[in-house]
Amino acid sequence: MLVKSVMEIEIIILAAGQGTRMNSARPKVLHELGGKPMLAHVISTAQQLTAHKIHVVYGHGGDQVHEQLGHLDVDWVEQPQQLGTGHAVQQAMPGVGQDNVILILYGDVPLIRTETLSELIATVDDRHMGLLTTTLSDPQGYGRIVRDDNAQVSRIVEHKDASDTERAITEINTGIMAVQARHLHQWLEQLDNNNVQGEYYLTDIIEMAVRDAMTVVATVTDDDIEVTGINDKFQLQTMERAYQTRQANTLMRNGVTMADASRFDLRGTCETGKDVSMDVNVVLEGHVVLGDRVTIGPNVFLHNVTIGDDVKVLANSVLENAEIGAGSRIGPFARIRPETVLAENAHVGNFVEIKKSTVGTGSKINHLSYIGDAEIGSNVNIGAGTITCNYDGANKFKTIIGDNAFIGSDTQLVAPVTVGKGATIGAGSTITRDTPDVKLTLSRSKQITINNWQRPKKKN
Ligand code: UD1
Ligand code: CA
Repeated sequence: MLVKSVMEIEIIILAAGQGTRMNSARPKVLHELGGKPMLAHVISTAQQLTAHKIHVVYGHGGDQVHEQLGHLDVDWVEQPQQLGTGHAVQQAMPGVGQDNVILILYGDVPLIRTETLSELIATVDDRHMGLLTTTLSDPQGYGRIVRDDNAQVSRIVEHKDASDTERAITEINTGIMAVQARHLHQWLEQLDNNNVQGEYYLTDIIEMAVRDAMTVVATVTDDDIEVTGINDKFQLQTMERAYQTRQANTLMRNGVTMADASRFDLRGTCETGKDVSMDVNVVLEGHVVLGDRVTIGPNVFLHNVTIGDDVKVLANSVLENAEIGAGSRIGPFARIRPETVLAENAHVGNFVEIKKSTVGTGSKINHLSYIGDAEIGSNVNIGAGTITCNYDGANKFKTIIGDNAFIGSDTQLVAPVTVGKGATIGAGSTITRDTPDVKLTLSRSKQITINNWQRPKKKN
């Protein structure tokens, strides 16, 4: 049998830099974009390329990086001292298969697209290496791409080492490159740090490749965002907006109507049905599922929620870790807290807080109520100002309300307590014992009128 050796891809992500300009105790690569550390973005992009192995070179704040991302299936390589990008790559080389193609990525360049990387990788073989470049109107600070008379890439010169003529070049090195491990290995061993910064520059391998009669194939991208690195909080904010625009565009392509894509934030993932619409200032976190024809009003925050078809979430509502049944109407100004499950066609109105409760089909809690640790049946009507007194200062207790019950306004249900099916509770009651089905129960002092009473008058 013939065994063919398959050329596989290995990815080295450089993430050891400190990120001084972030002015933060957190290592740079842990700062978040769309609620996820920028390094995690790069790792998931790398994972989409189905690489044989992903190596992450870390240094600064290694403990924090491990704590947050240690569970990811990558090879963590420490670079205790940051002696340059070439030195960083070198740290990962012992774990790399010699016959594989190495793709170099950066932990602080989070929005690189897999399509571009696949294009870059496709340029690599035994005689060719790939380099991702772009043209910038202000190339200040970047390594410049020097091309020969035939417009072939001949070397990279770092800004700090460049002459005035070289500094006038606007084609820059994004840093992202792909090359066979065998070649990379040889060249890294020949690096020195005889340059202005006293660093081992990865970029010096370009000249070595040309010297060894290889061709450096430049893939030129015109998408600034995908090759932009993040060094400070200004760039972090710019990239956050770019990322949110990308996500909004994806949702709109899937059919979501948005009042203003620039006032939308998704910090996680979102599945949407048909004809979903969102007003301004909607913030989604974690995993959010929206059924067909769901409408989300302005200033709504949703965290890990599943919302059924035809639900309306009205303005200024906050929903966390909850399930909302089809046809329900929530808000305006509703707060639905974790472990709440609403069945179909439930109504939850303004200034209503619900925590760890189930609400049956067609039940209504329309105004100013607190419902905690409750099981509410179907077609129940909870009057304005109803409170479940679920907590005695030490323990939590359950309130159970049967189907078709009617709770009068301003009722306190002191748990543990059960209200029977079809029961009616008179307004203003404090219910401390279970109430029977169907009957009217109320606790209220008798109303009296004092005939001879007079309002006090001011004394002169
Ligand atoms: C580098 C390139 C430059 C390119 C620019 C693109 C070199 C010598 N220069 O310059 O041509 O235009 O990126 O942004 O490669 N890192 C380590 N360990 C180190 C040094 C760096 O992990 O010892 C990581 C950093 O965390 C960072 C990346 O490598 O993610 C780039 O390092 P940085 O020092 O920012 O390189 P630049 O000077 O920007
Ligand atoms: Ca940089």
